[in-house]
Amino acid sequence: MSKDSPKLSREPYKGTRDFYPEEMAFQKWLFEKMRRVCESYGYVEYGASPLEPAELYTAKTGEEIVNEQTYTFEDRGGRKVTLRPEMTPTVARMIAARRRELPFPLRWYSIPNIFRYEQPQRGRLREHYQLNVDLFGIKGIEADIEIISIAYNIMKAFGAKDEDFEIRINNRKYLQSFFKKLHIGAETSKNITRLIDKKDKIDKKEFEKRLSEIVPEHAKKILGYLAPKPEGGILPDDYKIDPSDIPSNEQVEAVADISNLLNTSDQKGIRNIVHDLALTRGFDYYTGTIFEVFDTSGENKRSLFGGGRYDELLDIFDEEKIPAVGFGMGDVTVRNFLETHKLLPKLESTTKVSLCLMQGVSPEFVNESAKLLRESGINTSIDWSGRKIGDQIKSADKSKIPYIMVIGENEMKTNTFTLKNLAAGEENKGNVSELVELIKKARS
Ligand code: HAM
Repeated sequence: MSKDSPKLSREPYKGTRDFYPEEMAFQKWLFEKMRRVCESYGYVEYGASPLEPAELYTAKTGEEIVNEQTYTFEDRGGRKVTLRPEMTPTVARMIAARRRELPFPLRWYSIPNIFRYEQPQRGRLREHYQLNVDLFGIKGIEADIEIISIAYNIMKAFGAKDEDFEIRINNRKYLQSFFKKLHIGAETSKNITRLIDKKDKIDKKEFEKRLSEIVPEHAKKILGYLAPKPEGGILPDDYKIDPSDIPSNEQVEAVADISNLLNTSDQKGIRNIVHDLALTRGFDYYTGTIFEVFDTSGENKRSLFGGGRYDELLDIFDEEKIPAVGFGMGDVTVRNFLETHKLLPKLESTTKVSLCLMQGVSPEFVNESAKLLRESGINTSIDWSGRKIGDQIKSADKSKIPYIMVIGENEMKTNTFTLKNLAAGEENKGNVSELVELIKKARS
């Protein structure tokens, strides 16, 4: 590089993260917790490429995502390609492709990386990882309950207490039937729904202004509908709208679903669940139950994650409908939550022992000792640097390796080693197999 050319930036691309080993160790811990809960409910893992044909997203995803938030480009063959901004269309595509062979009901999960061209800020990046848990082929409310209970149990597996988070539920049919009563058309309803989804992210005045632009004649009624309702009761009793505008039939079905969800969750010991009439979620494809999980601390104001029922998504492939319900949980918001509630784990290195070498020690002897340790399932690194023993120990400690063994002439002669636990400052002497037993015992 010439002396005058600008220095290359060392930062990752805007809104993305590098995962140094420490962050990667956290990521592994996080995914492991997610995987364990999903698999305990009989869910199996799947995956796919992050590249998708762009038209996959134009059919049913919320418009903001398609027009403003995707990374879309033309490949060298002239095809329009999008980096997936969510996993749901991909999983729907995969199921449509093999629908006749797949053994329904399907319980599937995946932890893909997701790309959205957003303004990076707390809780929002341009690339994040998102656990997707979806159940296909069950129409009844039991599926919604199962999905919510998995979400709840993942939070518990992270160490969260009930009072740390709140599960807010609603049903798309609620809003839709209200809009229908007001004779608001399908397209306008979608626009209002998307705007309501942003309600907490924009200023109150701005929200009212945008709402009046979409439906000037009904903005007041909708604001009344969204106004905070008293605690408890399923149906709000302080509607500031004409009772004749309140829908019945279809809404009654949604009310029954919501009561059922609240009651069953209570029986399952899930008490931090509430009905929130103003909850909408951004995507167009939701058809029934929707839910979002919020941090109660107020420090992470956005929702932590959410999902819902989407029974019609397979329509876009000209396939018969398959009932589906699921959620997406992002790693960024969850990490913020864990930080706020002091639930971040203290993680050691995957390396258990570092062999620190004195001058003159035979490499064959060192390699043989390392081999014995590794064959016994103890991950072992060797410090070949030739630095002072103190420096070798410091490196091991900084790398969060829990044990060191110093090897010098004495060890070579006696085949006896001293194992030092760096955190506890404890030392034990023995041959390799005795020390292996000690490490294994300490681990269990
Ligand atoms: P979503 O609400 O758009 O839903 O995203 C789900 C979660 O992913 C969010 O609640 C958040 O935790 C995380 N997330 C989304 N965008 C970002 C971002 N830019 N930066 C960091 N985290 C983010 C969906 O994507 C649905 N497809 C979920 C679903 C699955 N519904 C049914 N099945």
